[in-house]
Amino acid sequence: MIFAANFKCNHTRSSTQSYISTLSELIKSDTSHECFVFPPATALLASTPNVTIGVQNAYMAQNGAYTGEIGLEQLDEFGIKTILIGHSERREILGESQEIVAKKFQYFTENGFKIIYCIGEPLEIRESGFDSVMEYLTEQFIGIDINYPNLIVAYEPIWAIGTGRSATIDEITITHKALKSIVSVPLLYGGSVNLSNIKEISSIDEVDGVLVGSASLDAVKFYELIRSC
Ligand code: PGA
Repeated sequence: MIFAANFKCNHTRSSTQSYISTLSELIKSDTSHECFVFPPATALLASTPNVTIGVQNAYMAQNGAYTGEIGLEQLDEFGIKTILIGHSERREILGESQEIVAKKFQYFTENGFKIIYCIGEPLEIRESGFDSVMEYLTEQFIGIDINYPNLIVAYEPIWAIGTGRSATIDEITITHKALKSIVSVPLLYGGSVNLSNIKEISSIDEVDGVLVGSASLDAVKFYELIRSC
């Protein structure tokens, strides 16, 4: 299983450092799972042997006049080679269009990054039926090289993110099955994953891992989540 912790705009540099040392120590040499942590950009640090550090976002440039952004040069300093692209909060709150998301995707593939590419539908699309869901999700692959070898896809229904209302086991199973007929890469589920639902979610055949927000913020609790699988 793949476990990815998305801190979003939480944690400081010092709390991230102690989080990573706690988590690394807890995981030790347990190699049965793959673990990623995405801290905020101010808290980037080098990966440890059992926890890969990734960036939540970056601009598609080496460096340059892109106020407020960070580029490859800043990521290289920490040896960061993993990035989240297409998270719904970046699409919805920060206004990233599919065109920008696809450009970012292309840039970071050219630079050999591992990419966790996020897709997910809003509630009104889910409520208008499964065909609409798949149509919406398929559109989020426009301009994306789904055969990129270093790709992981994360399916995160927007209505399940940070709401405490995870998708049901049936909804996840059916959606992941349909997505697996489009992309043949590891497929994560994200959206209110926590200790009470991780066992059921992780036992779905088509779920290769989870992308976790709020339930990842405490290293010990996040490790409990990992350990319970
Ligand atoms: P959540 O966030 O676990 O807090 O719902 C998941 C995500 O946005 O990646």
